[in-house]
Amino acid sequence: MPKKSNVNSTKINSKSTKHVPKEKDEQTKEGIQTQLRADQLGNVRESVVLASRIAVILVIHFILVALLPPRNKLPVILSSLLGASTLNQSSMFIRFKQNMLKRMFDKESKSLSIGKSRSDLLFAIYDIKQYLYRSKQWNDKRRSMFKMMTWRQQHICNQSNYAKKLNKVETKFVENNKLLTDLYQRAMERHCVSSWELKEYAQGSKHNGHYRVIESLCHYSRDWSNLGDVEIQPLLDYIKLQFKGLDLSEFVAVVPGSGLGRVAHEIALSGFNRVHAVEFSWLMTLCNEYVYANLSKEEKNPTNSYNIFPFIHNYSNHLNLENQIRGFQFKQLEKKPENLNIHTADFTTFNISQFHTDKDGVVKMPENLVIVTCFFIDTAENMMDYFDAIDRIASSFKGKKIWVNVGPLKYGTAAKVELNNEEVKMVREAMGWKTIDEAETPKTLGYLTDVKGLWKGYYGVTCWACEKK
Ligand SMILES: C[S@@+](CC[C@H](N)C(=O)[O-])C[C@H]1O[C@@H](n2cnc3c(N)ncnc32)[C@H](O)[C@@H]1O
Repeated sequence: MPKKSNVNSTKINSKSTKHVPKEKDEQTKEGIQTQLRADQLGNVRESVVLASRIAVILVIHFILVALLPPRNKLPVILSSLLGASTLNQSSMFIRFKQNMLKRMFDKESKSLSIGKSRSDLLFAIYDIKQYLYRSKQWNDKRRSMFKMMTWRQQHICNQSNYAKKLNKVETKFVENNKLLTDLYQRAMERHCVSSWELKEYAQGSKHNGHYRVIESLCHYSRDWSNLGDVEIQPLLDYIKLQFKGLDLSEFVAVVPGSGLGRVAHEIALSGFNRVHAVEFSWLMTLCNEYVYANLSKEEKNPTNSYNIFPFIHNYSNHLNLENQIRGFQFKQLEKKPENLNIHTADFTTFNISQFHTDKDGVVKMPENLVIVTCFFIDTAENMMDYFDAIDRIASSFKGKKIWVNVGPLKYGTAAKVELNNEEVKMVREAMGWKTIDEAETPKTLGYLTDVKGLWKGYYGVTCWACEKK
């Protein structure tokens, strides 16, 4: 029997072929009508066959009910199995399954139709919205795994208050969600996203960035909390040391991969003419923007502060519950430094001159540039693309051009080139970047590290500065 999709494709073809002679066009129309008739006939035949099979199953069911003793479950089990297998094999059901898959696929392709950046924004907002639901789902999975043990085992385990621990962790999801709910509302307003748009393009897609949302909560603790800048301050110390003796009001700074923006923020406060924080991920940008989204006093959260519990999303490597559920406070800032610009953009295509044009469209930039890469260069699939982009941006400046780098060399799984520290130096020098400072031994630093956990990750962080001659 011809499939409906074949008919559709014939239709499309006949429409799109503009120069078909009239006769041939008539023949095609006739062909389509014949096919449609055959299709309808096929559907009727199929329904009759399906109905007769179900009738046979029902007959078998009632015969068994009559023959077997009352309350015997065999007739129900047998007829359910036969019914399910009949439905599963019917081409109506197969078409239904195909349609459902197609609709899911359509959601992905629909997202592409609105442009990658807008669709990334919608996915990021949707991920924020889904935080509590997904976290609870994850916790519920722990509960169902627990229930797979014997009753005796569960009973003994609960002597440790295990079940209560799961409940306690869930209360912290709710706390984290207070920040995320406000952030979500602000993002919807600021970027003019309607619930309809979110539903249409993000809801129900295969995309799931829950892990990224958790990571951004960890970033709030690292970058903007009362935790004490343990991981940030040593980076800032090295970066700021490289600014010594420079008249920063004559410099533009560019911070690629700026994340939640603390480094760019501090650089802006050092007195640069202008700082461009360039971040690829919408989720990171939304979180960074929210640092400055000072809520008015009449709103729900007059202190503009939130409690964040970054270590609750994992039951591994904890000494005790207290450590796992310990929280930090994040407080929104009064205002964003005026010389700081936050861009959601791919650094490799970032065009700096468009932000330095006067009202007549003439490019007017300060002469000097500092580029600060922080935990960034090893994130590239192609590190040379980053180096080329740095070179391209530097070429827009006539005066001093300095590049300061702090970060590890931990490459992702798809890196096209994986240089060690020595090789990075050789490559940048081959591109004309003369090393002007280099820390002798790499600093050892954590990155979103739970210092009270049983597993602690630390990076050797290379620190160097160079100048384009
Ligand atoms: C490891 S994080 C570091 C964030 C920040 N520099 C810090 O130290 O907290 C790297 C960041 O670079 C961003 N990123 C990666 N490729 C990028 C690109 N081509 N353009 C802009 N940002 C990018 C990622 O989204 C991520 O936020």
